[in-house]
Amino acid sequence: MVILGIESSCDDTSAAIIKDGFLLSNVTASQAVHEAYGGVVPELASRAHQQNIVPVVDQALKKAGVERGELSAVAFTRGPGLMGSLLVGVSFAKGLAASLGIPMIEVNHLQGHVLAHFVREVGDNHAVPPFPFLCLLVSGGNSQIILVRAYNDMEIIGKTIDDAAGEAIDKCSKVMGMGYPGGPIIDRLARQGNPQAFRFARPQIADYDYSFSGLKTSFLYNLREWVADDPDFIEKNKADLAASLEYTIVDILMKKLRKAAKDLGIRHVAVAGGVSANTGLREAFHDHASRYGWTVYIPKFGYTTDNAAMIAMAGCFKYVDRDFCSMDKPAYSRAEI
Ligand code: KG4
Repeated sequence: MVILGIESSCDDTSAAIIKDGFLLSNVTASQAVHEAYGGVVPELASRAHQQNIVPVVDQALKKAGVERGELSAVAFTRGPGLMGSLLVGVSFAKGLAASLGIPMIEVNHLQGHVLAHFVREVGDNHAVPPFPFLCLLVSGGNSQIILVRAYNDMEIIGKTIDDAAGEAIDKCSKVMGMGYPGGPIIDRLARQGNPQAFRFARPQIADYDYSFSGLKTSFLYNLREWVADDPDFIEKNKADLAASLEYTIVDILMKKLRKAAKDLGIRHVAVAGGVSANTGLREAFHDHASRYGWTVYIPKFGYTTDNAAMIAMAGCFKYVDRDFCSMDKPAYSRAEI
């Protein structure tokens, strides 16, 4: 079984090969063009995908030492994501599968993030979460608690009602005049700051849902007042601001996750998505493991942000189930799991 995975839902063009369950290559072209705009510009993302898709797939095949004719199926992200970006990967997958006469496997991007935990390279024996487990999916577009009953049976039990956690971090970073994406910058600064230095609004939302727009607004309004009093306020306090922001976001995320784990009696807890690269969040997971007896699963850095290895992995599970899709399946921008 040789599966080619293709991911193009946002601003990363990625292709990966998994052969007989082991990852042989995972090639990703990121798009620096968005940095100047402080966020992803959909039209530019789509054009960059068009330029990147052929060389990225080519490199993934070469790195894996696999010929096109050896492919068993093409797995691709069908959604959710930016429509213009998705269309490039979906169209390419359709064209390639048709020309090779092999099946296509559609993958939900969010399921892909969860299944990133099952990606293995040769000689890699990391523990994989047993079912059922909870997965906190936190990225630039998502903040969800997912109950994972099986590879193909997942339920979103909590989600953000407005901004995603990564989006909030990126926007707060932007109002401080930092670069894009803000996540890694805030992470780096936070290591040198005091997490208790500033307090920001915390949401009061029912059940397992999240909200980050209030925090973002509170951050912005507080900052405006402080800068009005002292124009150098941000420069003088950037480490404390970053540490306090990170602390607040991690605290909000973990509180609901703790509630879900307790209510459902689940102690296997995973994290996925771009924000799972965050040092404070990773530390909070380890802290919860020792404090609440959780077994935690934290993906390797390469599988936290968008990547095709997770799409190829999801494709492997579906291939075994002969869960193929037809040519007429369009991309979708919004969807649950
Ligand atoms: O999963 P991902 O690559 O794609 C999107 O959904 O967009 O996640 C990107 C998000 C961005 O918001 C970025 O700022 C955030 O993940 N991020 C981080 C870190 N690295 C990336 N957030 C906090 N700490 C980090 N170290």
